[in-house]
Amino acid sequence: MKILRCIRIVGLGMAVTLVSILSAGAQSADAKPSADTQAWMDKALDPDTRADLMVHEMTLDEKIQLVHGDGWGVLRAGETVAPGHNGGAGFVPGIPRLGLPDINLADSAVGARMAARDSRYATLLPSVIGMASSWDPEAARLYGSVIGRELRDQGYNMSIGGGMDLIREPRNGRNFEYASEDPILSGIMVGELASGVQDNHIMGDIKHYALNDQETGRNSLNAELDKRSMQETDLLSFKIGIALAKPAGVMCSYNRVNGDFACESQYLLNDVLKHNWGFKGFVVSDWEATHSTVKAAMAGLDMEQPGIQYFGKDLKQAVLDGKVPQARLDNMVHRIVRSMFAAGVIDEPPMRRVVDPFRGRDDAQHIEEESLVLLKNDHILPLSAGEVKSIALIGDHADSSVLSGGGSAQVDAPGGRPGGSAWGTPVYFPSSPLKYVQEHAGAGAKVSFDPGSDPAQAAKAAAAAQVAIVFVTQWMSEGQDAATLSLPHDQDALVKAVATANPNTIVVLETGGPVSMPWSGSVKGIVESWYPGIGGAQAIANVLFGTVNPSGKLPVTFAANEEQLPHPHVTGLVEHTVNNRLKEDQRGRQPHDFPVDYNVEGMMVGYKWFQVKDEKPLFPFGYGLSYTAFRYSGLKVDHGAKEVSFAVQNTGSRDGDEIAEVYVTLPKASGEPFRKLAGWKRISVAAGSSQTVTVPIDPLYLSIFDTKDDAWKQLAGEYHFEVGGSSADLPLHANVEVSGAR
Ligand code: BGC
Repeated sequence: MKILRCIRIVGLGMAVTLVSILSAGAQSADAKPSADTQAWMDKALDPDTRADLMVHEMTLDEKIQLVHGDGWGVLRAGETVAPGHNGGAGFVPGIPRLGLPDINLADSAVGARMAARDSRYATLLPSVIGMASSWDPEAARLYGSVIGRELRDQGYNMSIGGGMDLIREPRNGRNFEYASEDPILSGIMVGELASGVQDNHIMGDIKHYALNDQETGRNSLNAELDKRSMQETDLLSFKIGIALAKPAGVMCSYNRVNGDFACESQYLLNDVLKHNWGFKGFVVSDWEATHSTVKAAMAGLDMEQPGIQYFGKDLKQAVLDGKVPQARLDNMVHRIVRSMFAAGVIDEPPMRRVVDPFRGRDDAQHIEEESLVLLKNDHILPLSAGEVKSIALIGDHADSSVLSGGGSAQVDAPGGRPGGSAWGTPVYFPSSPLKYVQEHAGAGAKVSFDPGSDPAQAAKAAAAAQVAIVFVTQWMSEGQDAATLSLPHDQDALVKAVATANPNTIVVLETGGPVSMPWSGSVKGIVESWYPGIGGAQAIANVLFGTVNPSGKLPVTFAANEEQLPHPHVTGLVEHTVNNRLKEDQRGRQPHDFPVDYNVEGMMVGYKWFQVKDEKPLFPFGYGLSYTAFRYSGLKVDHGAKEVSFAVQNTGSRDGDEIAEVYVTLPKASGEPFRKLAGWKRISVAAGSSQTVTVPIDPLYLSIFDTKDDAWKQLAGEYHFEVGGSSADLPLHANVEVSGAR
């Protein structure tokens, strides 16, 4: 029985073809693959003991083999691709004689990137920023579980999604892969996402650690930020997410942080991540973000990806020379192997089968329906099927499809060649707004389509209809930032022309993050759908016609214009940019370092900056409308400020979900002159009924980071709590005196 089980581990764990199963069998012929002789195969032992037992048996070469990737593989033409390589972004060959499977790493920020060998389809989920707009930890968990399930079905055993960077820079090209400008919302939502991945016996990951908050010059920029601010903002989100998910991997980022490259920063890796937070998994470099052998290994980097520049023969030599102690190499390997045991990729290896596209699509639609944010509704929504006789649908691909984000988060569209989505080109997914709007409007209503490429033509179409719905898009991608907050391709002019022609204009946004809307005063309805995923068109139509009552709330501030931002221009993005990218060499590098001064805003990221500067944004953090209304009352905060409770009443005539938000302002001595999110609850409230809501408050969220003691502390003093449905609409207030520091 035990022998059979171990053969299965060797074979399927590698997710290999018959030929390589046979060769794996041949390699392990001299070993006896059973828990009788391979004690680490005993499932009753804990992951650390199992890893120790296995690592003890490894040769120096086998250890070195595990701490780096196998090359660029399928990512670059002409590279060799190992037999066990599944077609993902990274591959680490296993050690068959010990029953250790290969590690197949897959980009999977918003769904599995590039279909694996012999597979054809992966679900495109809504953007992460969209998922975070649901403020629903269960939706985040479901999101991760779709990724984990489909990676498993495709034979991968590690996800390298889990984008956790704070949305400090609203023009960052990767904001659609990240959750929020608030560290608590980001930490919880992405932590749940990574847990959902790992629930499927797939190793999860959280990235890009840390302060990779813009793409412009990402390989050479030096993010400057004082320690306290860093701890209370960008690092806090990682701390929360890592504690929640216990991910197998943390990916260190390309950029420097206060002088050191993130992948060789003693402070970030050894001191904070491993020592203070007790992270037990392994640190994997972003692709070619390793810059040294001894410095990186000693600072805490455990695995170089995708190749072998520093952690191959140079690392072996450094170990032989004693520059990297043998114990450090053993620890690197231990972290990798214990994570494989802990996630279950050795005991429960992935079993290849065809992905279920219908299940994935339903999950994607469900998440999107919770993520759509109704930003404006001047008595026009929901549209009433019986009353609307003609609709002009206008704008980018709204007849056939929805937009997706680019870069390594790109999922292949159905029908295309697996791995065939070109880098740098927008990819649309077949989910037709026209089809579903027509379906809701009914056969008696005329729904026309105009691509929106000529504003005058579009205005004509709009003038001929009772209602105009304009779809506007902003394509964003890894490797480049948006130069401004404006919608690209003159779409502001398109909306203005349509709104002038038809007073009943509704705008649906498909954007990677916040954009400015100079036309917001002249349209009647605005819906933010982010990149809505493969179920996007149904979800959008369901919200437009009220089958779904919108409930999402903004996880980021929408500034009215760039001048309101801490950095009116993206640092380093200069005029001689190509495609918003610095004129760098092919790999997007800049020849010299340049600083990005995050001390300008320090702790005041996003809505905190707007409060302190007394700036009124276009739409505030935490804001989103519903087709019903909610009334808040009866705030109570317990003595220790560990829990707040209040009542929420649905005063309208429709059932609806509300996201009730709790903010706190710390005692004056904290030096933090702003309210910050301390908790929230997403609740369903039936029309006319009322609910008592209790929100537990984690003392961490009431604490400050004390750099003298290098520790979090809760100060004694008066805490001011505010509760409501948006950071800018908080009807309930209470002060609580907390005595004694915790
Ligand atoms: C990205 C990572 C990604 C890796 C592998 C890098 O360029 O920054 O997020 O996981 O490539 O594709």
